[in-house]
Amino acid sequence: MDIVGAVKNFFTPKAQPLKGKHVLITAGPTHEPIDPVRYIANRSSGKQGFAIAEAFASAGAKVTLIAGPVNIATPKGVTRLDIESARQMHHAVHENLPADVAIFVAAVADWRTSGSADQKMKKDGKGLPDLKLAENPDILASVAQLTEERPKLVIGFAAETEKVIAHATSKRIRKACDWIIANDVSGGVMGGNNNTAHIITEGGCDTLPTASKGDVGRMIVDRVIGGL
Ligand code: PMT
Repeated sequence: MDIVGAVKNFFTPKAQPLKGKHVLITAGPTHEPIDPVRYIANRSSGKQGFAIAEAFASAGAKVTLIAGPVNIATPKGVTRLDIESARQMHHAVHENLPADVAIFVAAVADWRTSGSADQKMKKDGKGLPDLKLAENPDILASVAQLTEERPKLVIGFAAETEKVIAHATSKRIRKACDWIIANDVSGGVMGGNNNTAHIITEGGCDTLPTASKGDVGRMIVDRVIGGL
């Protein structure tokens, strides 16, 4: 776009098809403490979730973004709540309902250590620490299975490394969400700038073109507008 076009575009009022809608989004990893200095984590950067939040805000939605520990600026027009652990994310999600649409992009740790240590654990020469794991709440499933405050559209993500479509298809049914957006994370998707998203609904699978995470966010918003 030339300079005149860019200036014109800046001053042209944008279409706000989602004005009046509340969209709740989770993004980033969770950190599960082992002791005050160590934690269990994963490679999610938050880029895909933040890009989706930005695209929804640009379409006029009121966006609440519940973010794990990431190093990204908050997109314009988005209300961001920072959390660390899966249990904090679970609490923040339910505190911020009702929503018209909920999208779960966060890579939530499935497990936490049961009873993290109050003090830094020391090597004492008597062997390895006896770490025990406990299961975290499934935030997506807990919202998809609500009866009263269930958002009209509940969308999960599925991070898969093999049999991407098959695993995501059964995950959609198991977690009772309306759509699940599958992506293959065996390469550089976690932390990278591009993604290939497969939108899986009751009706089948629609693969979006490989694109920047920003463009993937905008394509998802277009589908949501069509699906509301
Ligand atoms: O953050 P980036 O670096 O940009 O990478 C983006 C991404 C790869 C993390 C993202 O596109 C993605 O795939 N997010 C989902 C990651 C994930 O945890 O997938 P899963 O297949 O393990 O979980 C399935 C769904 O259940 C997800 O919507 C997840 O948010 C949700 N979940 C999982 C466990 C749990 N305890 N609670 C949940 O809500």
